[in-house]
Amino acid sequence: MSATRLHPFKAGGTLHRQAWHALGHLPTAGGAPFWADLQILRQPLAFTRTVHAQLGSVARTVIGGQPHVLLLSANALETVLLDRDRIFSAKGGWSSLMGDLFPRGLLLRDGDEHRHHRRLLLPSMKREALQGYLQRMEAPVQAAVGQWVQAGQLPALGLPAMRHLALSRAADLLLALRDAQEVKRAEHDFSELVEASTALIRLPLLGRRYARGLRARGRLVAQLLSLTRHRRARPGPDLLSQLVQARDEEGHQLQDDEVVDHLVFLMMAAHDTTASALTSALVLLAQHPHWQAQLLEELHSEDSSADLMGRLAARNQMGRVIREVLRLHPPVAFLQRQTLAEVEVDGVRLPRGALLTLAPLHVQRDSQWWAEPDAFNPDRFNPDRFKPDSGRSTDPTPHPYAWTPFGGGAHLCLGLHLADAQMRLVLGALLKSAQWHLPEGSTPTWRHAPITHPVERIPLRFTPR
Ligand code: HEM
Repeated sequence: MSATRLHPFKAGGTLHRQAWHALGHLPTAGGAPFWADLQILRQPLAFTRTVHAQLGSVARTVIGGQPHVLLLSANALETVLLDRDRIFSAKGGWSSLMGDLFPRGLLLRDGDEHRHHRRLLLPSMKREALQGYLQRMEAPVQAAVGQWVQAGQLPALGLPAMRHLALSRAADLLLALRDAQEVKRAEHDFSELVEASTALIRLPLLGRRYARGLRARGRLVAQLLSLTRHRRARPGPDLLSQLVQARDEEGHQLQDDEVVDHLVFLMMAAHDTTASALTSALVLLAQHPHWQAQLLEELHSEDSSADLMGRLAARNQMGRVIREVLRLHPPVAFLQRQTLAEVEVDGVRLPRGALLTLAPLHVQRDSQWWAEPDAFNPDRFNPDRFKPDSGRSTDPTPHPYAWTPFGGGAHLCLGLHLADAQMRLVLGALLKSAQWHLPEGSTPTWRHAPITHPVERIPLRFTPR
């Protein structure tokens, strides 16, 4: 990717001047409103690499019309995500981007309140619960894959097909709706809500989509409230039933409206990220067919007497492929926080109230931590590579926060095991049914905001096995 030119700061009418001046001791990576938004939308890696090379790992810029501190190092990710002194607010960081659409979701809570709600949600992600969800997913995933293979290609763009699959699976595991009309209604309203959250970088043109999303949220909340009351009386096999039954140490339960807020956030967190990662995996495997062959070999040597979770967990090579896909194309390429007090990050003092943008995408491709950072090499996650004379290329000493596609610290992704298992399930079903490739000369380009996806139609071709 070509390097971008850094624009000089221009004072914009909407700029929050006081906050901007409070960051005056930092180097400036473009101060014109929406300039950095466009860089992040169009060529985030070229942008962050240029900033890093020219200005270092901490700089100020303007994102979404507000002054932000760009933090581009693994150390900054560690300090901020670990948050030992409870200084970095996820709620403050994410509110302006998704506070209206997903209010009171887990990521929009801080401190003790967050810990309390996270504890109530955790049982819904326990091994036994996951086993149940995955078993429910197996047949519908197989059916969807069968349709793609029969058609010889992914319908329309790859990401919408994956979104549809992930959304219908998320709706089922969260809500287990039986009535086809209700399923359709929930899926439709939810898609509109998620569409609105793709207006996260609030360019004026996206305003109408945002308003539509807010209306869809209203309808969805009404539907989920009624379903929540129903599940209190008659629990089902879904995550919603787990939430209505959850109790803390004192026996307190979540209120109906709290359950609904969590459900709406979970649906968003669960499906778009997984759809993005699966789309990236399909493209990278199409570009590296020998990895398809290696993964198929692993599937053929599987112990068919083991249960589903056991079989998925034993797919070690597939696990490495998924880690490498998430390294190159983290679905959530940037993370947001706000400082609650003055604090030092990466040797730089930041004032209270500063909005922070952290960049897993940049750090996960930083040559300080990764050899040939832009190359697809799942073997870099093979523990054997640390053995002397293994003949494998080795990465420099890893930093614990150089790979953070699921975040870290108190807000570490709640669904990471489910996401990993779901990806193993879908990739396994596909690999057993077909091999796939991209036509010669086809090289997809990527957008990494607001969620990672290939820009244009990806013409994947399936050949049944
Ligand atoms: C490949 C798929 C996924 C990726 C890459 C991903 C990524 C992330 C990241 C980066 C965060 C932390 C954000 C931050 O700290 O600012 C997060 C949080 C979260 N994720 Fe995921 N996620 C995925 C799938 C899922 C699934 C399947 C679920 C639920 C079933 C889920 C539920 C959540 C929740 C509830 C949080 C908030 C946790 C908290 O605040 O304590 N995610 N995810």
